[in-house]
Amino acid sequence: MRIIDFLLGAVAVTSVLAVPVANNTIPCEARGVQRRKSKFTFTGVNESGAEFGNGNLPGQLNKDYTWPVHSTIDTLVGKGFNTFRIPIMMERVIPTKLTGTINDTYFQGLNDIVTYVTGKGAYAIIDPHNFGRYYSNVITDTAGFKAWWTTIAAKFKDNSKVIFDTNNEYHDMDNTLVAQLNQAAINGIRAAGATSQYIFVEGNSWSGAWHWISSGTATDMVSLTDPSNKIIYEMHQYLDSDGSGTVTECVSSTIGRERLIEATAWLKANNKKAILGETAGGANTQCISALTDMLSYMSDNADVWTGWLWWGGGPWWGDYIYGMEPPSGTAYTGVLPSITQFI
Ligand SMILES: *[C@@H]1O[C@H](CO)[C@@H](O)[C@H](O)[C@H]1NC(C)=O
Ligand SMILES: *[C@@H]1O[C@H](CO)[C@@H](O)[C@H](O)[C@H]1NC(C)=O
Ligand SMILES: *[C@@H]1O[C@H](CO)[C@@H](O)[C@H](O)[C@H]1NC(C)=O
Repeated sequence: MRIIDFLLGAVAVTSVLAVPVANNTIPCEARGVQRRKSKFTFTGVNESGAEFGNGNLPGQLNKDYTWPVHSTIDTLVGKGFNTFRIPIMMERVIPTKLTGTINDTYFQGLNDIVTYVTGKGAYAIIDPHNFGRYYSNVITDTAGFKAWWTTIAAKFKDNSKVIFDTNNEYHDMDNTLVAQLNQAAINGIRAAGATSQYIFVEGNSWSGAWHWISSGTATDMVSLTDPSNKIIYEMHQYLDSDGSGTVTECVSSTIGRERLIEATAWLKANNKKAILGETAGGANTQCISALTDMLSYMSDNADVWTGWLWWGGGPWWGDYIYGMEPPSGTAYTGVLPSITQFI
């Protein structure tokens, strides 16, 4: 989602692949992430905060940006979610240049939330929410991008519950460059010794599922390679008229499914797997129907759709139209109770 400056958020996602049903008899607090009802591997929420105030770099903690709240993770894990996407800013964690060194202050915050989420048995997705830009310039230095990822991945190489998301929503770039950046990230992450983790790759055109084919990004993204064979294609899809995720209305009660059909066919034809890394709709009857229909469709195609993540949670959303923050977020109270069968 492109958020208008103050709203850039971070998300952590956690998931547990195959927790035995017997764990349902264990008290929630004791078992951490519980067995979910759906067929999905990953279900969760984007947990914004650390990417907020991105117009102010590096920015100050608790003024420009913040970190997701532990108690929110506990609550959402209690609902069955197992994946949290944590948006961060590339410039805040490595400020001087792509090949530079880590800022320990910001990294400490990232490490804290990642450790907390994964300690719950959930997945933490590290999501540089940079849209393929570094200090507002399109990243063309693939070697530098690889170096950035090598530095970060080395820190998490022993935590198999971490997921690396190469970048949020590349857009208005050459399709070839987007694929090259994804490949450079994969190469950097694996070179750092992080060989067990999933890598989420994103495409051009805001990684929109509905534009996956028409934008041409699929043609270049199809040939990414990974020695660990753990690439998952992360696509985003909102259900409003321009697909930007900015209004409460959804186009129709079947719009989500319709917008995923072409990408689903591509995934099947090419033997790829995907995650819907951002989705949302307003807290109203039509959007709830559209979300339910879309998630049913994804569940019917769970051989290629590994899960979904809601946009968005985090402590600073206030009365945001898609707010998933407990206890009173608009979607937390108005949408979540209607879609729990898909968690
Ligand atoms: C409960 O789940 C954990 C993983 O979260 C697993 O290691 C453990 O074996 C499970 N316990 C039972 C009784 O199934
Ligand atoms: C490191 O991060 C902290 C917290 O975000 C910030 O206050 C500080 O200015 C940063 N240092 C550099 C060199 O960017
Ligand atoms: C996650 O956060 C980013 C940054 O704020 C936003 O662009 C994106 O739409 C969010 N995704 C979800 C699913 O909330």
